[in-house]
Amino acid sequence: MNNPQLNRHGELIHLLSTEGLPREILTHILDTAANFVGVHQREVKKLPLLRGKSVFNLFFENSTRTRTTFEIAATRLSADVINLDIARSSAAKGESLLDTIANLSAMAADIFVVRHSESGAPYLIAQHVAPHVHVINAGDGRHAHPTQGLLDMYTIRHHKGDFSRLSVAIVGDVLHSRVARSDIHALRTLGCPDVRVVGPRTLVPPDLAAMGVRVCHELEEGIRGCDVVITLRLQNERMNGALLPSSQEYFQRFGLTPERLRWAKPDAIVMHPGPVNRGVEIASSVVDGAQSVVLEQVTFGIAVRMAVMGIVAANEA
Ligand code: CP
Repeated sequence: MNNPQLNRHGELIHLLSTEGLPREILTHILDTAANFVGVHQREVKKLPLLRGKSVFNLFFENSTRTRTTFEIAATRLSADVINLDIARSSAAKGESLLDTIANLSAMAADIFVVRHSESGAPYLIAQHVAPHVHVINAGDGRHAHPTQGLLDMYTIRHHKGDFSRLSVAIVGDVLHSRVARSDIHALRTLGCPDVRVVGPRTLVPPDLAAMGVRVCHELEEGIRGCDVVITLRLQNERMNGALLPSSQEYFQRFGLTPERLRWAKPDAIVMHPGPVNRGVEIASSVVDGAQSVVLEQVTFGIAVRMAVMGIVAANEA
């Protein structure tokens, strides 16, 4: 099937999802990011890769980490960065998404970084931009958050090396998590043999077994002996009704505490995409503990987003 993220030479022109991307492209992004990780320690932190290009950040949903790290990443690559304030834009007066894109394209946009509550919004935009314009999905509905998936892969590879012997547990509100989907596709493509999804039945979608993951409804079974524990935020804003009795009960069954973390390997790392609900999906002492790499994920996000923008900008449709 035709992959809208790739041109006819198989090169990455948009990043919309980790699903369907070949292993070589995922590895190329991670390897490129590795070259960018040290840039902030240089006296001159800027590289000329996107000089003369304009990156438009369009965040129709709130963000702290993704929006800011995209801005830092684009600035480090010498791009001009425009952060559209959606609440004060004409989108608030009812201007359509595609009209917004057409008008911003008329201002010579080169890259659109898009977060939207509607799954598929970045795909729609990618179908309507000029051949030299690139679209990067910064999170669409419940569907995908590919740069988060990639920065998670970068963090795992940094700490654990080869994926081929790893056990990775993804714990929590998988039903609403675009991060979980992006992580699962990337982990499977990169050769991780043991991906487990752990959560209450109401928060684990039924289609996951088909993605090659093991579904567990008990935390101990899910994280026992694993190398990586990825905890997910309970997304109350996406829950249309009572999927859970209460956040306290959730914490009692699935909250990651120091005692429960001992079920994983002694050198297991703990990850979380943020924002964290302390005391709901994870105890504060674990978020801030020695096995947590949560803030490293954020830092690596800059290099990964530099890599993604640099790679797509070098390719044309
Ligand atoms: N991980 C993540 O997407 O965080 P933000 O919502 O703050 O961007």
